[in-house]
Amino acid sequence: MHIANDLIEWARRQFDPGGVYLNTASIGLPPRPALSALAEAQERWRVGDPDPWDYDYDVARSRRAFAVLAGTTADRVAIASQSSTCAALLAASLEPGDEVLCAEEDFTSVLFPFLARADLSVRCVPLERLLDEVRQSTRLVAVSAVQSLDGRVLDLDTLADVARANGALTYVDTTHAIGWLPVHSDRFTVTACSAYKWLCAPRGVAFMTVTQEAQQWLSPRYANWYAAPDPWQGGYGLPLRLADDARRYDLSPAWFSFVGAAESLELLVKVGIDAICPHNIALANEFRLAVGMPPSNSAVVYLRRDDVESLRQAGVHCVIGEGAARLAFHLYTTHDDVAAAAGAFTRA
Ligand SMILES: Cc1ncc(COP(=O)(O)O)c(C=O)c1O
Repeated sequence: MHIANDLIEWARRQFDPGGVYLNTASIGLPPRPALSALAEAQERWRVGDPDPWDYDYDVARSRRAFAVLAGTTADRVAIASQSSTCAALLAASLEPGDEVLCAEEDFTSVLFPFLARADLSVRCVPLERLLDEVRQSTRLVAVSAVQSLDGRVLDLDTLADVARANGALTYVDTTHAIGWLPVHSDRFTVTACSAYKWLCAPRGVAFMTVTQEAQQWLSPRYANWYAAPDPWQGGYGLPLRLADDARRYDLSPAWFSFVGAAESLELLVKVGIDAICPHNIALANEFRLAVGMPPSNSAVVYLRRDDVESLRQAGVHCVIGEGAARLAFHLYTTHDDVAAAAGAFTRA
């Protein structure tokens, strides 16, 4: 326990939030090593000294670290820039008439890639009914591990079990999960994660995991030079040549974004999800208790009350809508942050 606390404390010192920052579910903050690496890369660019293949080192580091955080191995991880392209790739591999089961309140980048294919039968149900609605006729269940809107955490083990029992494929958007929640990505056909929130990376980095079995049939529809076994060898002409693992689904990388991502992801690996998860949930629950909500298993608090504007007045960074606020608690959040956010209401 002491070691975990020390690691969290060490990690926290790598970040410089300017104020009470509870908005990781929108944008995660960068650790200082990520900013230094980015500054160095930009300097090399400024003076005309960038080697395109140097960035491969950062991509490889990012892929390896992500695999650890996602509970899988690097040969099952592809890189992308947005998670929606990963959902779209899977959607494109389905047959006309296939039933896709979704949660009706899910984020649009989880729903739209399937809805945009008018020849699929997309069935949307409330999240709390989703696991009961998986049937033999369901070809794919597509859902977020943690809901973007309100932080509800799906029972991922049960999802994997009911999908398997019904012969259904699974697509899980892990954007709001990986980085704080233990996820065994290998239990799902395809997963996708945008890294600019809980993984504290610059925007422009996403990861897709594909099981070894699914790699046999998932078509690499956006095959490109970077998906070749060695992208730097002979980038011209025939024949088609693609890596024999999940790298075949790689999109060519947004270079600078991966320079920062490698540092952020390695920092998270160093601290470990085993330390980050209880830390985040404990702080979220500390806030819940302070504002009279029951505890939960999420690092996100969705707070419904008329006076959420008090959070804005107190300078708390979080999403504030009409009568509701979304607050996210990550490894750089402190007890003082919790007290300041909860205090916004006692002062109001
Ligand atoms: C569940 C989920 N997936 C993905 C994203 C980001 O989408 P993209 O990477 O396609 O921009 C968000 C952003 O809020 C999200 O909530």
